[in-house]
Formats: sequence, structure tokens, C-alpha cells
Amino acid sequence: MSKPVILVTGALTGIGRATALAFAESGARLAVSGRREAEGNALAAELRELGADAVFIQADVRRDDDVRRLVDETVARFGRIDAAVNNAGTEGQPGAIVDQSEETYAATFDTNVLGTLLSMKHELRVMQPQKSGSIVNVSSTYGHEGAAFASVYAGSKHAVEGMTKSAALEGAAAGVRVNAVAPGPTDTGMLDRFTGTSENKAALAARVPLGRIGKTEEVARAIVFLASEAASFVTGQILTVDGGKTAG
Ligand SMILES: NC(=O)c1ccc[n+]([C@@H]2O[C@H](COP(=O)([O-])OP(=O)(O)OC[C@H]3O[C@@H](n4cnc5c(N)ncnc54)[C@H](OP(=O)(O)O)[C@@H]3O)[C@@H](O)[C@H]2O)c1
Repeated sequence: MSKPVILVTGALTGIGRATALAFAESGARLAVSGRREAEGNALAAELRELGADAVFIQADVRRDDDVRRLVDETVARFGRIDAAVNNAGTEGQPGAIVDQSEETYAATFDTNVLGTLLSMKHELRVMQPQKSGSIVNVSSTYGHEGAAFASVYAGSKHAVEGMTKSAALEGAAAGVRVNAVAPGPTDTGMLDRFTGTSENKAALAARVPLGRIGKTEEVARAIVFLASEAASFVTGQILTVDGGKTAG
């Protein structure tokens, strides 16, 4: 079989970057996407140094035209899309519900919810006629539990999980699988912004049964599994990767 073609959004940092590196090491061809051109081209060059055929395509997932072009340019370059990882996301502006506004709602939902919807819309447009493909959305443990002072983020990730299951039902007839990973606290810039101080971060780690914050590579491995043929009968599922945080 030829090398699988993988599309990753929000690939320039954190979990997205670790996912791109993991796919490159597994021999995939990659379209990596993000908003920042210089950093994106640098990532694509790094992936090519690992031996992967990789291209950077700039896109803001909140824009339908950007996502359409991202998907079309990926197909023009590689001929198909075998798996897509919809990882781009934002923590928005965490805070009490009484302090939220139209702007804070849009700042979170436009990327996490509309961005995931637009990504799946264009990916399914390619994968359904192709009669194969695997989509992996990136949710959060806050996609299936509440989060005081992060209600907008939690609401947006609940929406990601609802859309994931619904898209799985729509894609199944064409053999397209749609799943999500739900990371617990994972060591990225987003977690640093969420926690604010090293004391808060340590306190969060102490509440994880495995006693630590997760590594980006650990989430990436779960994403690679869901995207792969090893998960060929798995669709509509949310795979939680949280060191046991939501087990009890
Ligand atoms: N870290 C955690 O503890 C944790 C836990 C659960 C779930 N997650 C989820 O994991 C995913 C990755 O986050 P991360 O932790 O790796 O944090 P991160 O390093 O901040 O990564 C988020 C990435 O998404 C990109 N992005 C944001 N808005 C975008 C937009 N409108 N269009 C295109 N790209 C956009 C960011 O690029 P810019 O630099 O351009 O903003 C950034 O590269 C997110 O969906 C997040 O909600 C993270």
C-alpha cells in the first residue's frame, strides 16, 4: 500500500506538532496546517528532514474558504486524504459564566466548534467519494465533564464530541470512520496559559491518578492509532487519554 496521506490542523505547536512528528516517523505523507507561515514552513522542512513528504498549507480553521483550500490543495498535492486530525483549538478566555460575553463565546466556539465542523465538512467531501478515510477530532476530558470557570471551553468540547458521533453516523455508509481523542492535562502552551502558575500546574498534576501531566507524544500515539487500520472497526468513539483523571 502507498504511504498514507495525513492532514493535521493546528500542527505548529503542542499536540498537533507531536502528532505530525509521530506520523512522519511512521512513514506518512503530510499536509500540516496552521496560521503562521514562517513557523509552518519550518515544520514542513523538519518533517522532510525525517524523510517524510510534507507540505505546509496556511489556513485559519474559522474560515470556510481557508479550509476548502486546505483540503483541495492537499488532494492536489497527494491525490487523496487517508486521515485528518482536527486539532486546532483554543482555550478562549477562561473565567466565570457571569463574566462571559458574545465576544468570549465567539473567540472559543469559532475555532473549536465551527473550525471542527468546517474541517469535517471538507474532509468528508473528499473521503466519502473516496470510500475510505479516518477523521480524528481533538476534544478534551472537558468534552464529557463540567469545568467550573472554563464553561465556554467545556461547552465547545462537548459540541466537538456530539459532532464527532454524528459525523461517524453520516460517514459510516461510505466506510469513513470519525472518532475523537479527549486529552487530560497535557504539557503544552495551552496548559501553561490555562494554569497560569507552576504551582497551579503542580496541583493539577497531583489530581491525576498517574501523578503527572501527560506528554504530547502520549496523545499523539492515541491519535495515530485511531487514524490507522489498527482501529478499522472503531468509529463514533471518544478515546480519553488522561492518566486516569476521569476514571473515578
Ligand atoms: N494541553 C492540554 O492540556 C489539552 C487538554 C485537552 C485538550 N486539548 C486540545 O488539544 C488541542 C491542541 O492544543 P495544545 O494543547 O497542543 O495547545 P496549543 O499548543 O496552543 O495548540 C493549539 C494550536 O491550534 C492553533 N490554532 C488556534 N486557533 C486556530 C485557528 N483559528 N486556525 C488554525 N489554527 C489555530 C494554534 O495556532 P496559533 O499559534 O496560530 O494560535 C496552535 O498551534 C486543542 O484542540 C486543545 O483544546 C489540550
